Parts: sequence; structure tokens; C-alpha cells
Amino acid sequence: MRKATIWAGFGIILGAAAALGHGDTAPQAVDTAGLPDLPAEMATENPWRQAAPEVLFKAVEVGAKGYNSNCARCHGLEAISGGLAPDLRYLEANEFGDEWFLDRILHGYEQNGAVKMPPFEGILNQQAIWAIRTYVETRADDVEIADQQGKLTELRDKLALVADDEAAATALATELAAAGEGFEPLSGAPRAITPFDEAAWQLSTQPPHVKAAIETLSAAVRD
Ligand code: HEC
Repeated sequence: MRKATIWAGFGIILGAAAALGHGDTAPQAVDTAGLPDLPAEMATENPWRQAAPEVLFKAVEVGAKGYNSNCARCHGLEAISGGLAPDLRYLEANEFGDEWFLDRILHGYEQNGAVKMPPFEGILNQQAIWAIRTYVETRADDVEIADQQGKLTELRDKLALVADDEAAATALATELAAAGEGFEPLSGAPRAITPFDEAAWQLSTQPPHVKAAIETLSAAVRD
């Protein structure tokens, strides 16, 4: 009886995840267009850990999509684990952590003949794998970001006011980048990429992605 109740509860959680659009059970290939090519041989360490902003932000963008369509249903939305599977944000951003990451993502995990995590070898290419790695290791502490509600709302509103004025919108990139300073990733990676940083980046492209930047900030506002 108890067991049945637990499993029913589990089904409800998975069902809710599916309803949110993160429940696609079949592993999904990831569109890695825009990321630099990597050598045929699999790297043993994240090749983009120290990458220049152009590559780093692209990797995070691709990685976020890859994560949401393949990993979020077990490892949690926005990489924040709800307890079904380990919280990947804490996996150390070093060679040891990368080795562990690669082993799990390529081969999955089986326990007593049951697949606890599916293997992604042959489904995700090397770029997709390292993009997902880059996304999870650059996550800042969500509690620290949640503490920034005032700043997030203020900058989102400021940007929305000048949305039709490209020069004025672009000028806000500096303020956004400054707001993103001082956050540390939970993995110990060289830098955290917060919604402030992402929005600043979206404004510094040619042409600036003003709408996308507003959406990035709005998504981080919890109201
Ligand atoms: C069906 C659920 C499920 C899916 C989907 C899934 N995982 Fe997992 N994953 C697990 C479970 C359960 C474990 C714990 C296994 C163990 O004990 O090592 C795990 C472990 C891991 C670990 C080891 C973490 C640690 O701290 O030991 C990594 C890395 C990982 N998964 C990455 C991923 C990535 C990346 C994706 C998406 C591409 C993914 N997983 C998709 C269930 C899942």
C-alpha cells in the first residue's frame, strides 16, 4: 500500500513535469549551430571553461536548451534538483568532475537492471555535451539570485522603457554587467553566468537582442 502510494506520487511528479513541457522521455538531439567545432576525439576536460565571451555565452544558451529537453525532468528545472537525481550545479568544475560527468552522460546509470539514467552516447554530440556541462557549471546560487528581485525588476523596467531606442538599450549593458559581478558558481568554475550577465550579453550583440534581454530578466523575477 505504502509502496503504491509512493509510486503514484512519483507518477504525479513526472506527469507535472511533462505538462510543463520538460517531460519528453525520448532523448533529444541538440542543435549546436553557432558553436565552434571540436576535434573528433572526445575531450577529457570542458574545452569551453575558459572560453572568450562569444563562445561561453553561446555554450550556455545551447546548453540550457539541451539541459531542459534532456536532463531537467530528473535533475530539476534550471538545474535546481528537486531530489529525484543529484544536483548537477555542485559537480566540481575540474578534470575529475568532467570525467564523472562524461561517464554518466555517455553511459547513463543502471541499478539492479533498472535504467535510472539513460545513456546519451550517439544522441548528443560532443558540442552538445560540453555545452550542457558549461550551462550547469556556470549556475550561480539561485537563492542569491532570488535575493536580487529589486535589482532585476528595476533593470528590467528600465530596459523595457527604452526598448525601441537601440542606443539607449545598449547603453544599459554596462549597468547589467556590473550587477552581475560578485556571484560565484556553485561548481567552482571560473565565472558564474547570472541573468544580469546574460541580458548584458544579449544587448552587446549586433544587432542587440533587446526583447530577449527583457525576457531573460523577467524570467528571473519571481512574482
Ligand atoms: C531518467 C532520469 C534522468 C535523466 C533524464 C538524466 N539523469 Fe543524470 N542521473 C539520474 C540519476 C538517478 C542519477 C544518480 C545516479 C548515481 O547514483 O550516480 C544521475 C546522475 C548523473 C550524474 C552524476 C552526478 C553526481 O553528482 O554523481 C551526472 C553528471 C548526470 N546524471 C548528468 C545528466 C545529464 C547531463 C543529463 C541530460 C543530458 C541527465 N543526467 C539526464 C537520472 C537522470
